[in-house]
Amino acid sequence: MPDIAYVNGAYLPLADARVSILDRGFLFADGVYEVAAVIGGRLIDNEAHLSRLENSLRQLGIESPLPIQTIADVEAELVARNELNEGLVYLQITRGAAGDRDFGFPSGATPTFIAFATKKNILASSAAETGVKVLTVPDIRWARRDIKSIALLAQVLAKQAALDAGCQEAWMVDDDGFVTEGSSSTAFILTKADALVTRPNSAAILPGCTRKAVQSLAAREGLTLEERSFSVTEAYEAKEAFLTSASNLVLPVVSIDGRPIGSGAPGAKSRLLRTLYIEWATNPGAAR
Ligand code: PDD
Repeated sequence: MPDIAYVNGAYLPLADARVSILDRGFLFADGVYEVAAVIGGRLIDNEAHLSRLENSLRQLGIESPLPIQTIADVEAELVARNELNEGLVYLQITRGAAGDRDFGFPSGATPTFIAFATKKNILASSAAETGVKVLTVPDIRWARRDIKSIALLAQVLAKQAALDAGCQEAWMVDDDGFVTEGSSSTAFILTKADALVTRPNSAAILPGCTRKAVQSLAAREGLTLEERSFSVTEAYEAKEAFLTSASNLVLPVVSIDGRPIGSGAPGAKSRLLRTLYIEWATNPGAAR
C-alpha cells in the first residue's frame, strides 16, 4: 500500500505528514474524528459518519475546513491513491494551531484537517469466528460522549485494562451499574426472551453508525428491539452479546469478566446480524 496521507489540502507520503506542535488537537485534544470502513474500495455508511462529523463540529464550534461533500471526496481520493480495497479511513479535524497556548478559542486559527487510510481485513476476521472477550471497567469519561472527540484517554486506559486481562474489548459501566458502551464500539445483548437490547442514544454514549444500521436490519428480521440501559448482571445472564463498530462491523462477545455468555460460543443471532450487515454494506443498492 502506498501510504499516502492528507494534510490541509496536500496528499503526501505518511512519513512526511506533519502538523504544528501548537496544534490544539495536540495540546488540548481540541478536535473531532471519524473512522469509516472501506470494503471493496467503497466507504461504508459514510453519509452517516459525515453527518455525525458535522454534529461533532457544531457542538464544539469548530468550523468545517471544507464542505462536507469535499471531505467525502478527500476520503475517496485517499482510498484511490492508497489502492485500498479493504480497511479504514481515519479523518480528524482540530481547531487548528494558534500562536500561543491559550485555553480560549483563538481568533483566526484555521482548522487542521488530516486523514489517512489503513489496510485491515474486515470481512475475514478471526475475531468474528471465535468471538471476543469483554472486561467491564468503570466509565470515567466526560459527560459529552455523543461528541466524537479525539480526547480518548479513558478509552485508551479501558482498552489496555481489557488487553491486560486477556480480553479484546472493555465495556464501560456508569455509576449505577449500567453498561454505557465499549471503549471503541457499541454494546448489545440479546435477552433470553430474544429481545435485542442496547442503550438509547444520549450524551452518555456515541451514537454509533453501525448500531443504527444493525438495529434496522434486526427490525427487518422481526427481532424485538429494546432501547434501554442494561446492567452488568443482566449482560452476564444474556443469551448472546455482541459489539458493533465501523472497524469491526458486528463481533460476537463470548465472555464478560470471565463468565461465558450463553454457550460461550458466538451466538446465532450475532452471527446472523454480522452476515446481514455485510450483505447490506457490500450491496450499495440495498434499501437501508
Ligand atoms: N470507534 N462507541 C465508541 C466510544 C466508539 O469509539 C465507536 C467507534 C463506537 C461505534 O461507532 P460506529 O459504529 O459509528 O463506528 C461506539 C471507532 C471505530 C474508533 O474509534 O476507532
